[in-house]
Amino acid sequence: MSSTEFIRAKAEGRKLSMVTCYDYTFARLVSKSAIDGILVGDSAAMVMHGHSSTVTANQELMRLHTEAVSRGANGKFLVADMPFLSFRKGYAAALDSASILMTAGAHAVKLEGVDGHEDVVQRLVQSGIPVMGHLGLQPQSVHAYGGFRVQGRNEESARTIARQAATLQELGAFAIVLECVPANLAREISECIRIPIIGIGAGVGCDGQILVLQDLLGINTDFRPKFARPFLDGARCVLDTLGRFDDAVKAGTFPAGEESYS
Ligand code: KIV
Repeated sequence: MSSTEFIRAKAEGRKLSMVTCYDYTFARLVSKSAIDGILVGDSAAMVMHGHSSTVTANQELMRLHTEAVSRGANGKFLVADMPFLSFRKGYAAALDSASILMTAGAHAVKLEGVDGHEDVVQRLVQSGIPVMGHLGLQPQSVHAYGGFRVQGRNEESARTIARQAATLQELGAFAIVLECVPANLAREISECIRIPIIGIGAGVGCDGQILVLQDLLGINTDFRPKFARPFLDGARCVLDTLGRFDDAVKAGTFPAGEESYS
C-alpha cells in the first residue's frame, strides 16, 4: 500500500484496515498480516507510557517509536503522528517535525485539524510528504473539549467537520481519520469525499477502520470505549500464560532438561 493506493482502494470500493503500532515486535507481526497500514499514533504516550493524554507525546518520543516500528514493519505502509503543536509553529518547524518522522521511516504523516494551518498542510504536500488528516475528536485538543467527547452531534459542529474534510481534500491530503462522530455524519462525509475516510468510533459507513492495537487485542482492560471491539481476550491469554509460567517455575518443571545447556 501507499498513499496513492489508499485513494485507488476507495475508488475501487475496497475497504481499508489500519492499526496503531508502537514497537518493533508487534510491527513484525502486523507486517505479516493483511492490514493495509500502520499508524505510529501519538496515543503511544497513553498506551506505552501511561500518560493521561497524547499532549505529552513529543518529537523525540514519536521519532523513537517510528524508528522501532519501521525496523519491524518490513515496508508496510507507515503513517506517523505529528506531535502536539508541532504543526502550529510555522512552516519551518512543521517541516522539521515531518522530516524527523519521515527520516525515522514513516511514509506519511498525520496531523490533527486543519483550520489555521491550511498552509502547513499544503506545504507538506508540495514537499512530497503524504498527509493524512484527523478530524472529529482530535485528542490533542482534549483540554479544550474538557474530556474525550463525541464530536459533530449538533448541526453546526457536523457542518464544520464536513467542511474541514472537504478542505483537507482540496489541500491534497490522501486520507482522513475521523474519530468519534455520529455514524450518519461519517457516512455522509465518506460519500461526498474522494479520499478515504478511516473511521474510529465513526460507524460502518467509513471507507476503512482503524483501532489501537492493544484495544483490538483486548490487552487494555482499563479503558474500553464502546467502539473498541476486543477481537481477542488478550488480557486473559496473557494472565493465563503468566500463571502457567509461575506454576511451572514454582513446581520445578521449568526449565526441563532439553531447555538447559549441558
Ligand atoms: O494516536 C492514535 O492512536 C490515533 C488513532 C486514534 C487514530 O490517532
